[in-house]
Amino acid sequence: MSNQHTDRACASAPSSTRAIGTQLAHLGRRSGEHHGFVNTPIHRGSTVLFKTLDALEGALRVNSRTGPFVYGLMGNPNSRDLETMLATLDGGVGAVAVGSGLAAVSVPLLAYLSAGDHLLMTDSCYGPSRHLTTSMLARMGVETTFYDPRIAGAIDALIRPNTRVVYMESPGSLTFEVQDVPAIARVCRARGVTSMVDNTWATPLHFRPIAHGVDIVIHALTKYQSGNSDILLGGIVARDETHWQRIKETAEVHGHYAHPDDCMQCLRGMRSLEVRLARHASSSIEIARWLEGRSEIARVLHPALSSHPDHAIFTRDFTGSSGLFGCVLKPHAAGREYLRMFLESLRIFGMGFSWGGFESLIVSSDVRSSRVTAPWTDEGHLLRLQVGLEDPRDLISDLAQALDHARATTAARV
Ligand SMILES: Cc1ncc(COP(=O)(O)O)c(C=O)c1O
Repeated sequence: MSNQHTDRACASAPSSTRAIGTQLAHLGRRSGEHHGFVNTPIHRGSTVLFKTLDALEGALRVNSRTGPFVYGLMGNPNSRDLETMLATLDGGVGAVAVGSGLAAVSVPLLAYLSAGDHLLMTDSCYGPSRHLTTSMLARMGVETTFYDPRIAGAIDALIRPNTRVVYMESPGSLTFEVQDVPAIARVCRARGVTSMVDNTWATPLHFRPIAHGVDIVIHALTKYQSGNSDILLGGIVARDETHWQRIKETAEVHGHYAHPDDCMQCLRGMRSLEVRLARHASSSIEIARWLEGRSEIARVLHPALSSHPDHAIFTRDFTGSSGLFGCVLKPHAAGREYLRMFLESLRIFGMGFSWGGFESLIVSSDVRSSRVTAPWTDEGHLLRLQVGLEDPRDLISDLAQALDHARATTAARV
C-alpha cells in the first residue's frame, strides 16, 4: 500500500528524542500507508480477511502491537496509531487503548489481582476507582488498604507478603495531594510489587511516571488528550513487555475495545495538546491566585501555587501544570443555600462532571465520608474548577459576580 509518500518523520531518528510539540504533530500516523493522506483513515470493522490458511494462523502467533491485524476487538489501524503515540510519550514499551478512563483503571487492577491478594490504594483516588475496590474487588476476595497519599517511602511498612499492587493517583483529582511517586515506586521495585499511577491530571507532557520507576500508567483520555468533551476513552501504558502482554490479554478477555472513530478524535486532540495545556495551566494559575485573595475562600488547592503543601514535590517532579484545581469555601460562606446561589449564578462555568475539555466547569463534592486513612477535615464546601480555554478575565468576572450575588442574596435572607 505504500506509495511515493514516505513517512519521513517516522523513518529517521527515534521520535522520542524530539521535542514534545514535534512528537505530538508526527507520532501515530503513517501517511505512506494511506496514499499520502496526512491522517490515517478510519477503519471500522470486526472481521479481517486472510487470503491463505498460513496467513490466518500466522496472524494469531505474532505480536499484536506490530503484526497483522486479526480481528477488530484486538486492534485496528486507528487504535494502533493512538497506542504508538501513548507509549512513546510515556516512554513505555506499549500501550492499550480502552473505551473509557475507568476501564483504564479497572483493566490493570484486574490484570494483577486475584483472590487472596492485597492492594494498597491511595485514599485520594477518584471515586469510581475507590468503588471498584470496595465492590467488585472485595467480592473477588481482594483486600484493599487505603493509604495516606502523603505516605511516600513509609509505604514500605504497609506491604505484606500478599501485596501485589500499589495504586497511586497524583495529584488526587478532587483533593490535589501530590504523591511522592519516585519514593513509592522505589519501594515497590525493592519489594517486587507492581506500581500503577493514574496520571490523567498531568498527562505525559508534565509528568512521566515510567521514568520515575512506575510500572503502569493510566490515562483517562476523555480529559485533556481528547480535549473536547465529546468522547470517552482510556489508555494504559506498560513499562515492559511482560506488563504489556498481561494488560493486553486482560483487556481482550474482558472484550474491551477502543472505537476507531474515538481513537481518531483523540489523536486529533493530541496534536494540539501542548498549546492547549499551556493555556489551561496559565489561566488556572491566574484564577487560583485571584481566588486566594477572596474573603469567601478558606484555601486554594493548586499544586503549582507555592501555598500548596506539596508544591516542593510538584516542582521537583512535574514540568508544568494542567487546569484542574480545587478550593474550599470558608465555613461561614458554606451553607447549602449560599453554595446553590453561587453555582447557579455562574454564567460561563458549567456545572458538571469530567474535565479537560475546552469549556470551564465547576463541581462541589464531599469527600469527608469516603476517606478512610487521611481524614478530610475542612468544614467548608470543597469545589473543583476545570479551567477551560475561555479568556481568564471573563472567567474571573464570572466567579466574582456569582460570589457577590450569593453573598448579597443569602445575606438579604438572613
Ligand atoms: C482521575 C480520573 N481517572 C479516571 C477517570 C475516568 O475517566 P472516564 O470518565 O473516561 O471513565 C476520571 C474521570 O473523571 C478521573 O477524574
